[in-house]
Amino acid sequence: MNASRDVQTLDGSTLLEIRNVSKYFGSVIALRDMSLQVRAGEVTCVLGDNGAGKSTLIKILAGVHAHDAGDFLVEGKPVHFSGPREARAAGIATVFQDLATVPLMSIWRNFFLGSEPTIGYGPIQRLNVTFAKRVMREEMRKMGIDVRDPDQTVGTLSGGERQALAIARAVYFGARVLILDEPTSALGVRQSGIVLKYIVLARERGLGVVFITHNPHHAFPVGDRFVLLNRGRSMGTYLKSETSLAELTQMMAGGKELERLAEELEGMASEPAAEAEAAKQGLEQVARQLAQETGESR
Ligand SMILES: Nc1ncnc2c1ncn2[C@@H]1O[C@H](COP(=O)(O)OP(=O)(O)OP(=O)(O)O)[C@@H](O)[C@H]1O
Ligand SMILES: [Mg+2]
Repeated sequence: MNASRDVQTLDGSTLLEIRNVSKYFGSVIALRDMSLQVRAGEVTCVLGDNGAGKSTLIKILAGVHAHDAGDFLVEGKPVHFSGPREARAAGIATVFQDLATVPLMSIWRNFFLGSEPTIGYGPIQRLNVTFAKRVMREEMRKMGIDVRDPDQTVGTLSGGERQALAIARAVYFGARVLILDEPTSALGVRQSGIVLKYIVLARERGLGVVFITHNPHHAFPVGDRFVLLNRGRSMGTYLKSETSLAELTQMMAGGKELERLAEELEGMASEPAAEAEAAKQGLEQVARQLAQETGESR
């Protein structure tokens, strides 16, 4: 990636910042001395393995948890949110992994869930369905999705499209910071690519995006800065120009483990006792894929 983009994005205004934030759950230190900045028009990736503290971090940003130590600033002013509603009012939208969409509800109802537009006053006040359908279609089109039937249920959308719906909704309702908790973890290669494209679109629209993932292959192409979390501690923040995919993968301590796992699987696949040919082929495929991933990132 060229350096000029990094220089440009570094001029982006800081929307949100935490300084030396810690969070305890009884004797468990979920987050220790964590610092992070989110800037307009930038994607900040938070990388870390299971239990690293990623969800704890975003729950603090989203107003779900209060921090026990340190400072939390939104546009330079210290804040103490007492719930997600306050965070949303401050322009921080969080798309949780389960998306909080209702599968049996129509797309347009879902889009306006909790903020339904109305027409008329008093006893004749009713839902402005025409407006809701039109806006939903327009906003989805901006995301590159052509919704033919607004009454279609959300359950019929693919995982990637549902992520797009959640992102479009956050953008429409004025979010300045968009937090995505592992949006690609349950998706296939193509759908992950689509979600990564929406992340870039949100950035181009000037939002500050926080992208949580444990996959450096997803983070590196779209990220401007990378925050590595390990057992509740930050292992540092790196600009794209300062790091590489290989380095990110190694730092996540995933590289070596993947290599070992690939070898193990290869061993299992070549055991003569493995009679089931299908199972053997499956294992070989996984081994090849892992070998390729570790190779790519070396
Ligand atoms: N409500 C809670 N009560 C007690 N301990 C908690 C709570 N939430 C998180 N923890 C602990 O804090 C640590 C960090 O958890 P967190 O969910 O933030 O990790 P994560 O990086 O999101 O992991 P994953 O990739 O598995 O989602 C873990 O050790 C977890 O057990
Ligand atoms: Mg988590």
